[in-house]
Amino acid sequence: MSASRFVALTLVLWGAALRAQDAIGEIRLASLDLSVVRQGWGVARADRSVTGQPLGIAGQRFEHGVGTHARSQLWLELDGRALAFTAMVGVDDGTTSERASVVFAVWGDGKKLWESGVMRRGQPAKAVEVDLRAMTRLLLQVGDAGDGIDFDHADWAEARLRFTGATPRAIAPPQEAAVILTPPPPSAPRIHGPKVLGCRPGNPFLHRIPATGERPMRFVAEGLPDTLRLDASTGIVSGTAPPRGTHRVVFVAGNDHGEDRRALRIESGDAICLTPPMGWNHWYAHYDRITDEMVRQAADAMVRSGMADVGYQYVNIDDCWMNAASHRDPQRVGPARDERGAILPNARFPDMSALTAHIHSLGLKAGIYTSPGPRTCAGFTGSHGHEAEDARSFAAWGFDFVKYDWCSYGEVALRDGGTAALQAPYRLMGGILRELPRDVVFNLCQYGMGEVWEWGADVHGHCWRTAGDLGFELDRVFEVALANVEHRQWSKPGAFNDPDYLQIGMIGDARSGGEPRPCPLSPNEQYSFMSLWCLMAAPLIYSGDMRQLDPFTLNVLCNPELIDVDQDPLGQCARHVPLGDESFALVKDLEDGNVAVGLFQRGEFDVPLSVAWTTLGLEGPLQVRDLWRQQALGTLASGIETVVGRRGVVMLRVRKPAADRHP
Ligand code: GLA
Repeated sequence: MSASRFVALTLVLWGAALRAQDAIGEIRLASLDLSVVRQGWGVARADRSVTGQPLGIAGQRFEHGVGTHARSQLWLELDGRALAFTAMVGVDDGTTSERASVVFAVWGDGKKLWESGVMRRGQPAKAVEVDLRAMTRLLLQVGDAGDGIDFDHADWAEARLRFTGATPRAIAPPQEAAVILTPPPPSAPRIHGPKVLGCRPGNPFLHRIPATGERPMRFVAEGLPDTLRLDASTGIVSGTAPPRGTHRVVFVAGNDHGEDRRALRIESGDAICLTPPMGWNHWYAHYDRITDEMVRQAADAMVRSGMADVGYQYVNIDDCWMNAASHRDPQRVGPARDERGAILPNARFPDMSALTAHIHSLGLKAGIYTSPGPRTCAGFTGSHGHEAEDARSFAAWGFDFVKYDWCSYGEVALRDGGTAALQAPYRLMGGILRELPRDVVFNLCQYGMGEVWEWGADVHGHCWRTAGDLGFELDRVFEVALANVEHRQWSKPGAFNDPDYLQIGMIGDARSGGEPRPCPLSPNEQYSFMSLWCLMAAPLIYSGDMRQLDPFTLNVLCNPELIDVDQDPLGQCARHVPLGDESFALVKDLEDGNVAVGLFQRGEFDVPLSVAWTTLGLEGPLQVRDLWRQQALGTLASGIETVVGRRGVVMLRVRKPAADRHP
C-alpha cells in the first residue's frame, strides 16, 4: 500500500471510530446484569414484577422494565459520557395491600438527582428523566417510605439509559475498606465478661474467667465460695453452685506486664442466664454437614482465637445431630430412638458425653437443639411425645443450653388454641428443663408467634427469637433490629429478645446450604450489626465458620467495650430515637449510670450528623468515648457532631463529668 493510500485509509477509519464514539446508544435497564441488585425481598426481574407477573402500574401495562422490591439498590457504572436516564416508576399492581408505599430516588455521584416522593398502590406511574452528563456512578434506589418493606413491589418501568461512549454496566454495590477500628488488646491482663452470673444452688458450676493479655497468666479469686475452686493457670472456676444468696467475688489476673481486677456478683437462686448468652451456633456455617469433629474444632477455635477471652462461652449444636428417615448422607440415617425411647445421635456424633467433656475441659459450655414437633426443621427426629426423656438425655450428656424450635409442631398443635396452644410445648419443655440437676439455658425459636416476648419468661425461657430467620437481603439487619427494639420493655436479666445470630465472616449459603463464603454485608454493615445487637441486649451467638476467622471478623466480634454494653447487668434493650430519613439513634441505660448511644444511618452515602443531647433524652455536658476506636472524645456540652459512614454506626458511651455526678 502506498503511503498516501495508507494515510487516507487511516483517516477514514479514525473518522468512523470518532462517529461511533459519538453515536448515541440506548440500552434498557432490564438488559443489564440484575443479579447485582440488592433488595429487601425476592430478586429483581427483567420485564416482570418481583413476583414474576407482567409489569403494571395503576392499570397501565409496561412491556419492559425492572421489577424490584423495597429497599432496593441498583448501582451503575458510567464513563462520564452517558446522557440520560428515563423511566416510568410506581408501585406494581400485583401487590395486594394498601400498605404498599415506596420512594424512588436516583443518585448520581453521591447527589440526589431525582426523587418521586411517597408513591402508593394505584397511583399512576411518574415519569423520570435525569440528565447524566459527567456522571460516573448512578444509584437507582427504592426506599420503604419509612413504614417497613411489606408489600413494597416497585417497578422501574420502561427504564432506559442513553449514552455515548461505553455502555453502562450494573455493578455490585461499592464497599468501604474493611478497616480494623479497635486497637489490639494490651499485653497486660484485662478481665472481661459479665459482672453478674446466676446459678442454682447445688448444680454443677463452670465459668472461664474471660481475660485478654499475654499468657501465661496467674488467676486469683478473692471471696470465692468454698463450693468452688479456681484453676490458677487457666482461670477456670468449677465446682458446685454455692448456697442460695449473693456471693461477691473479685477475680485478679496477673502476668509479667501487670495486673487487673474485676468483680463478679454470683447470684445463687432460681434465675440463670442473667446476661445475654454469648457463644457460637453451627447453623449458618455448616447446616446438615455438622459433625462431632467440627464442633470440637469450633470449641478449640473459640479459645485459640481469643473469643473466649472476651466472654464467648456456649458452643452450640443446631439441627441435624440426630437421625433422619432419609438424608443424602447415609451416616445421618438410622433409628430415631433406642428400645427404651431415648433419642439417638447419628453416626456423625459418636459420643455426645465425650464431646461435651471436651468443651467443658476448655471452660466452655455446650448447647443442643431439638423441636417440639415429630421432626425438626431439617427433617430429623424431634422431641414430640418424648420431651422428658430427651431433656434427661441432654442433661446426662452434659448440655448446658437447649434451643427449642417449632417446625412440624404445627401438625400436632391444638388448632385454634390461641396463645395457650402456642405456649404449650414451651411450657412443657421449660418446666422439665427447670427441674433438671443442671443449669440449662432455654432458647425458644418459634419466630415471635403469639407475642412470645410477653410470655417467654413465664414458660421458663431465657431468650426467644422475635422473628424468622435473619437473611442478608438489603437492610434486613436494620429492619429486624428496629422491629426487635419494639419489644424492649420485656428485656430484663434472664429474659432476652433474640433477633437471631451474628452472621458475619465466612457464612454458608442459607438457600443452598453451601460451603461458607464471605458474608455479603459491607464492613460498615458488620459494625452496625454488632452495635445494634449489643445495644439491644441480644444474645451474641456467632454463626459463621470458626475455622476461618479473619482479623476483621474477630475485631467486630471481640471488642470488650462493646460486649460490656451487651452484658450490662440491667439487661436493658435500647430505646429508638429517629433522627432523620435514614438515621436513628439507639440509647441504652447502663448499670453504672453511663449511657450507650449508637448513631446509625441506613443510607448509601456518608452523612454528617449533628445530634443534641436533649434529642436523645440526655443532658450535657457529657464525657464521650468512641467504643469502636476505644478513644476518649472529650467533654461535649450540648451534643455531638460527627460523620456516620454509609450504613454504618458511631458507637458511644457517655457519662456525666465527675463534678456533675451525683454520689
Ligand atoms: C430454623 C431456625 C434456624 C435453624 C434451622 C434448623 O429455621 O430458625 O435457626 O435452627 O431451623 O433447621
